[in-house]
Amino acid sequence: DKAGHKHFMAKEIAEQPAVLSDAIRHYLPANEDSVRLPGEGIDFAGVQRLTLVACGTAYYACLTAKYWFEQLARIPVEVDIASEFRYREPPLPAGTVALFVSQSGETADTLAALRYCKGKADRILSVINVPESSIARESDLALPIHAGVEIGVASTKAFTCQLTVLLILALKAAADRGEMTPEALADHVAALRGLPHLLNAALECDGAVRGAAQRLSAARDVLFLGRGLMYPLALEGALKLKEISYIHAEAYAAGELKHGPIALIDSEMPVVVMAPKDALFDKTISNMQEVMAREGKVLLISDAAGLAEAQEGIWMSITMPRVHPAIAPILYAVPAQLLAYHTAIAKGTDVDQPRNLAKSVTVE
Ligand code: M6R
Repeated sequence: DKAGHKHFMAKEIAEQPAVLSDAIRHYLPANEDSVRLPGEGIDFAGVQRLTLVACGTAYYACLTAKYWFEQLARIPVEVDIASEFRYREPPLPAGTVALFVSQSGETADTLAALRYCKGKADRILSVINVPESSIARESDLALPIHAGVEIGVASTKAFTCQLTVLLILALKAAADRGEMTPEALADHVAALRGLPHLLNAALECDGAVRGAAQRLSAARDVLFLGRGLMYPLALEGALKLKEISYIHAEAYAAGELKHGPIALIDSEMPVVVMAPKDALFDKTISNMQEVMAREGKVLLISDAAGLAEAQEGIWMSITMPRVHPAIAPILYAVPAQLLAYHTAIAKGTDVDQPRNLAKSVTVE
């Protein structure tokens, strides 16, 4: 049932404020600034290292989580693609916690990577959407993301719910390790509680995105740029676009531009820049200006303050609400998803069933 939407993907994008508030309610008890995990939970105090493993969109959720666990909880983090991890057979030093992220909980490579870690990692955690899945059953602690059934092949609400649960887990780790004051924790918890409301506001960019997508649909290649927490999101934005619109899209950390990809820039190359007005804004904008100096067409996604500062000479813009910097990638996922969706519509491709793809990849 598409609940009045044309596609499951549109329905699942629109559902995000509701499912996220559900996820938040499960992990952040009302009237308390503390994190509640299911079952026995986990104490991160003695954890030496965290290894995060997944595929596709879930892998980009892990890449985002690396920034959170390192910056907030000061835990060294490794992130790997499951199909590489499992055959590389990496050593897992004592004190390693392994965490697997999977919407379906049945992805073959992720499950094999989990099995490799049995008896080697101190604990095996999973962040999953299907509680009765193999990955959930075979981990010591399974953390459900409460996204509800996701049908569109392009993952949307599962991604933002994965991010939300991973951020909450990083906050718990920061508190367990004494790396975060109660005030800072309360500040992050309040920001998360405000997130569903902000997501509703972000969904209002639909009209602006539609216009941008019309023009993007004529492109052969699209480049996505971001720094810090916006870098993994740029990767996710590029994956979404290629999956359903079949336009070749790539993402780079903005600072990598001058190490090669800037050679691609010309007047035919739209560049999507994701840059909330945060501590890294000026750096990203200077990379954006390097693109414009080479006639690259920039679509800038930022907040009102960012756009007021950097609007000159850009091709198009999408305005996001102002947001706590730590949760920005969850909010900015919305325009990235809508951009892919409307570009696919403009191209007339099959949004819910893109060619060559399956919802759940249970073979290698
Ligand atoms: O079920 P999983 O989260 O383990 O699936 C992982 C990937 O196959 C999945 O995220 C895929 O990349 C999506 N089609 C992305 O939209």
